[in-house]
Amino acid sequence: MSTHTGITEAVLTYQPPHPPVKEFEPPRDRAFFADPEKKSLLSAATKVKNLTPYIGTELVGVQLSQLTDAQKDELALLVAERGVVFFRGQDITLDGQHELTKHYGIQDRDPNQQDPRHVTILGNNNDIRAYSNFGGEYHSDHSQEANPPAYTMLRMVRTPESGGDTIFTSQTGLYDKLSPTFQKLFDGLHGVHSSEHSYINSLNSGYQPFRGPVRREHPLVRTHPVTRLKSLFYNPSFVIHISELKGQEGVHALNFLREHLHAADDLTVRWKWEPGSVAFWDNRVVAHRAIPGGYDPTTREGKRTAIFGEKPFFDPDSESLSQRIARVGGDPAKNEIVNLFFKSPHV
Ligand SMILES: [Fe+2]
Repeated sequence: MSTHTGITEAVLTYQPPHPPVKEFEPPRDRAFFADPEKKSLLSAATKVKNLTPYIGTELVGVQLSQLTDAQKDELALLVAERGVVFFRGQDITLDGQHELTKHYGIQDRDPNQQDPRHVTILGNNNDIRAYSNFGGEYHSDHSQEANPPAYTMLRMVRTPESGGDTIFTSQTGLYDKLSPTFQKLFDGLHGVHSSEHSYINSLNSGYQPFRGPVRREHPLVRTHPVTRLKSLFYNPSFVIHISELKGQEGVHALNFLREHLHAADDLTVRWKWEPGSVAFWDNRVVAHRAIPGGYDPTTREGKRTAIFGEKPFFDPDSESLSQRIARVGGDPAKNEIVNLFFKSPHV
């Protein structure tokens, strides 16, 4: 569960300069425009490495700075399907990253973001278990917003020799691994996402957030608009309650979900950064955490850009991953998901 660092006089008197971001309808996800087989992107790679069966693909031999518009759309679809796609040795500049991000929609702005176009991500030498180590817990980037980011791109400029890895876990997998009884229980419920503790922690850490704290409900099980697969949309950094449950029911359900997430080594990929590495992920279907501690935090710096997503929704007729695999003729028991073409209904 989330940590609290306390309300101080400074927290109470601070006036954030920007109003909350209102809900809006973003442009159509670029993954809708992709060739479902992603031929032009995948054929450009010298190697396509699925890093784990359920999540994470590394494209070798591709420069993000050189992508055609068709390849950019195919990359969005690959990210939606694989949760996160990685690259190493990228020559793209900060301006190039802004341009590439713009292809995918309207650029999002984190409440703590200084530059309107990107967040500078720095190192963190906290103990991951520390009470005040808010940023080290799994999260989906500012999921409390009305239009939480769909895609996030993080490019590392400087990295320590070791340390500062990021872990990504598939929420599509987390939903799929629940028993049908628990799936039915969670379908249609709503998580209460709150940034109150994140806001307080920012102020107490010397930042000046642009927007005040918000509390907002989103479906606890979410349908991806492109793949039409169901995912959990839970993260312990922002989800503080489940609307339809009573107090202690919510506490225990969230404790279960946190354990379910933290124990999911089979649904997790751990990425070791180098200068010039890029991760491009879909916040709608993965939770992530940067691992703090054990290195000099001044040696880590990255640039993060993000794109507004749709208002999260739940379609009761959408499928779990196993249902999808069975429908397209695979065997869910054999985990036949590597390189599975998702046969999304729109294509
Ligand atoms: Fe993050």
